[in-house]
Amino acid sequence: MTRPFLGFSPERFSERRTRVKKALGGGVLLLPSAPVLRRSRDTEVRYRPDSELFYLTGCVDPGVVAVLRADHEEGFVLFVPGRDPKAEVWSGPRMDPSEAKDLYGADKVFSTSELEERLPELLRSGSRVLFRLGVHPALEKLVVEALTWARGRGSRTGDGPRAVADPGTILDELRMVKDSEEISRIRGATELTVAAFEEAMGATRPGMGEWEVESLLEAAFRKGGGTGPAFPTIVGSGENGCTLHYTLNRSRIQQGHLVLLDGGAEVDLYAGDVTRTYPAGGQFTGPQAEVYHWVLRAHRAACEAIGPGAQVSRIHEAALAELVMGLVELGILQGDPGELLEEGAYKPHFPHQTSHWLGLDVHDVGDYATESGPRVLSAGTVLTVEPGLYFPSGSGTAPSALAGIGIRIEDDILVTSEGAENLTEGLPVSPDRVEALNRRELRE
Ligand code: GLY
Ligand code: MN
Ligand code: MN
Repeated sequence: MTRPFLGFSPERFSERRTRVKKALGGGVLLLPSAPVLRRSRDTEVRYRPDSELFYLTGCVDPGVVAVLRADHEEGFVLFVPGRDPKAEVWSGPRMDPSEAKDLYGADKVFSTSELEERLPELLRSGSRVLFRLGVHPALEKLVVEALTWARGRGSRTGDGPRAVADPGTILDELRMVKDSEEISRIRGATELTVAAFEEAMGATRPGMGEWEVESLLEAAFRKGGGTGPAFPTIVGSGENGCTLHYTLNRSRIQQGHLVLLDGGAEVDLYAGDVTRTYPAGGQFTGPQAEVYHWVLRAHRAACEAIGPGAQVSRIHEAALAELVMGLVELGILQGDPGELLEEGAYKPHFPHQTSHWLGLDVHDVGDYATESGPRVLSAGTVLTVEPGLYFPSGSGTAPSALAGIGIRIEDDILVTSEGAENLTEGLPVSPDRVEALNRRELRE
């Protein structure tokens, strides 16, 4: 049994269940724990709870299945693995169903050994089933069998599930707007990320291995009480900074090269996500500084486009306008900036989007556009701003002075009712302050 609720008040979870039940109508929602993953033979990856199950129940244990139904006296049913002295020797104590019932406030709790027997009737009680396909093969098999049975019964009685839908169709919208307890966890994650970056950036020197920078960053995440990195840390020196999700971190940092450091702490399952690009033990060279200048302009323009009521697509457009202008000024692109934008001529050097939502998942849930157009930002939404420019050598599209330069700048922004708050603003971003931080001359 691990620590349920992670310090959140249990009422939060029951309030969320009430909201979900309203949206469910006659549907039945089935949410299992995240699968236990193996990294090699019988060795398990450290367990990371399922974000949706946690969001609705506070449960962080493996092997659990939650069932939610509206207008039913057993509207919240849990299946838990139950006691198993032999397994508990290896993985720690578990709860029996009656303990779980009290703790989670469920209407009914069964052992997971009863799942196969009980699932058909449970699913039959709804007009549709909300269950994610393709993730839980063993449970999915039971769901398909239960649905087949329920459909057979339904043809005689006129009831039973007629459709399967993804739980995200209901949960994503709710998860997009963070409540005060979630925001305090995101603040915890972003503050820890900033502190860890200060440590790792201040210690980076030419000759060090990228892996040493990774270890400094992640040690600081753990020292500060975080679970660890929210995603694999990227330490890309020189050319490696041009590979967007470079995580090998196995090169030595050379004098004169930039280091692109992209990492984020996880605190109580909530993520931070920051990138800084800095010269190890020195100063930006002329070409590095020129590229940095344009990425920083794009970053600032994108940040300014954020506020309640703003369209999320405007953030990317604001960054693109600066980056395209920069590519023209740098002599990489020729022509009218408007047309270059339209043609997507910038894509070899800026192949990703400017933002993603941030929360329980580092690339958090929620659509960026709806049927009626681009998403309009509302207070309580958290998102990143992360423009970049990349000139991999060998691509033949950049002058040799820029070859091997990859620069990204990433901050985490909370949309507030008045505007926006940069949660990672404490980490230097201007070139001179970034250099000073690396030289450990900056004392905040
Ligand atoms: N490191 C992944 C991202 O910034 O989105
Ligand atoms: Mn990142
Ligand atoms: Mn990001």
